[in-house]
Amino acid sequence: MTHSLRVSDITKDYGGHDVLTGISLTINAGETVAIMGPSGSGKSTLLHCMSGVLTPTHGHVYFGDTRLSALPDHQRSRLRLKHFGFVFQDGQLLPELSNLENIALPALLTGLSRKAARQRAQHLLDQLGLGDIAERRPAEISGGQAQRVAIARALAPEPAIVFADEPTGALDQGTGHEVMQLLTALVQRSGTSLIMVTHDVQVAQWLERRVEIRDGIIHDDRLLRGAR
Ligand SMILES: Nc1ncnc2c1ncn2[C@@H]1O[C@H](COP(=O)(O)OP(=O)(O)O)[C@@H](O)[C@H]1O
Ligand SMILES: [Mg+2]
Repeated sequence: MTHSLRVSDITKDYGGHDVLTGISLTINAGETVAIMGPSGSGKSTLLHCMSGVLTPTHGHVYFGDTRLSALPDHQRSRLRLKHFGFVFQDGQLLPELSNLENIALPALLTGLSRKAARQRAQHLLDQLGLGDIAERRPAEISGGQAQRVAIARALAPEPAIVFADEPTGALDQGTGHEVMQLLTALVQRSGTSLIMVTHDVQVAQWLERRVEIRDGIIHDDRLLRGAR
């Protein structure tokens, strides 16, 4: 899947409070991008608009030729499930499922057979060096391991884009770096785009491009390592 994501002059206001005031941005297929800015600057709001979780007040978001922001809810949900993966600050794994079942679940929901979904989950766990925690529950592993499970879960349906909101925010620096190393290696191997919110410059250095928002607009947009 080689779809780009295009944000065309979007605004977002929450009941008269303007958070985004005119953002245009294209993310090319396979690109890794950090969305940066001070706390409260609208990073999460922008990420949610880009991923179809929120609808912008004005303007549109296009995934390939599809105008994501104009789709009815159920179609938007289906598109998200099939083409987008999500990683949050605190893994948000389901506590009553095993780690393997957590990873297999979104892949199952996209229509993969139970056997194929479990095989894919196990393969991802092995790649992440976590083969031996497959049958444990999320409460029985460390925070760093849980984030790696969450990354495997996001990648299992083979999405076009992974969206991540401060995925290392709850980890110590060393563990955060390990998680970033794995995440960027996996998306690069599979050609998946990565759009990640972080306020941490050290974390952003793992990504190719840095977009900084301030006062509702893009303040800076630069390539750090050149496009692949
Ligand atoms: N659902 C909401 N309703 C009203 N205001 C919101 C909502 N979500 C976020 N905001 C406000 O929008 C601004 C940007 O929030 P957010 O996108 O979470 O910023 P960031 O992720 O950069 O810290 C903040 O002032 C926040 O209080
Ligand atoms: Mg945020």
